[in-house]
Amino acid sequence: MSANKTLLVLPGDGIGPEVMAQVRKVVDWMDRRRGVSFDVREDLVGGAAYDAHGAAISDATMQAALDADAVLLGAVGGPQWDGVAREHRPEAGLLRLRKEMDLFANLRPAMVFAPLVGASTLKPEIVSGLDIMIVRELTGGVYFGQPRGIDTLPDGTRRGFDNQTYTHPEIERVAEVAFELARKRGNKVHSVEKSNVMESGIFWRREVTRLHGETYADVTLEHMYADNCAMQLVRRPKQFDVILTDNLFGDLLSDCAAMLTGSLGMLPSASLGAVDGGGRRRAMYEPVHGSAPDIAGRDVANPLATILSFSMLLRYSFGLGADADLIEQAANNLLQSGIRTADIMQDGMARVSCTTMGDSLLREMDKLAA
Ligand code: IPM
Ligand code: MN
Repeated sequence: MSANKTLLVLPGDGIGPEVMAQVRKVVDWMDRRRGVSFDVREDLVGGAAYDAHGAAISDATMQAALDADAVLLGAVGGPQWDGVAREHRPEAGLLRLRKEMDLFANLRPAMVFAPLVGASTLKPEIVSGLDIMIVRELTGGVYFGQPRGIDTLPDGTRRGFDNQTYTHPEIERVAEVAFELARKRGNKVHSVEKSNVMESGIFWRREVTRLHGETYADVTLEHMYADNCAMQLVRRPKQFDVILTDNLFGDLLSDCAAMLTGSLGMLPSASLGAVDGGGRRRAMYEPVHGSAPDIAGRDVANPLATILSFSMLLRYSFGLGADADLIEQAANNLLQSGIRTADIMQDGMARVSCTTMGDSLLREMDKLAA
């Protein structure tokens, strides 16, 4: 891999900039200590971009994202933009990035770090050792389906409507990602939809079953309704290995799965596009948590989700598994040492700031690299 890997950093809104400041230290550390260097460019997205340019992402930033080897995003949104029209709202910047980069596969791991077992709201025996990978379809379904709108029927009845639609290539390409991941993990996929109610759900199940029979018969495949999946996630989460689901169900189920681990502040994600002819795939990495405007600017946020997103970036975009392992091991050791940000605070532990969490992680990385 050449030295000139390009990285576009989009801190965004709320706690985005403060957690990203900690990640930048990790990026510098990788350069200094491991010879992993990036050309880093930083730009605006979300409300910050709206305030500067009147759009949640400018065309120039969008182009930079399309050209970068990888994008690392903080978070978008905040109450100060509540009154802004939907097409300019902070979330629109995120959705445009996903759609125009064609990032159809969203990987959301829900892993319980052993030192944090007690931080979960579930009993330790239910969550200890938990390791689920949710593969959420990210560029289709009701998020983007047409027609959609708010209108008035001829008889004067007002209505709002969205449209859930999936084509067979859209289902197939994300299902392939799920099956391929399963082969490297526990070899099991739960495909989740509502085929008891929705035509698109019947079609989803049919297409996943067909692909499984044709190409992935060695992987165990189970089908599950989305409501049952939500229930099973809190009842017996360790039955899952890879969960494959659509955009909307994936949004809900990934928040639920995330909370099993104790805090949204711990969970990274990767959004991947197709591999092109040159073996390159567009990719964006971001924490599952949002911009948390209530705690923004107070240096109390947990930077680990974004730091672990950078570690996913090293692993999935650049094949730097050993470097990613080092960051994850350091995070585990750090938690083992009893240091906690507010979101994962437990009795007897030391509560630290976002900055201290970042600095302490670097020290753990130093120890591991010594
Ligand atoms: C997520 C978020 C987004 C989504 C919002 C901010 C548009 O909740 O990444 O899960 O709904 O996809
Ligand atoms: Mn969400």
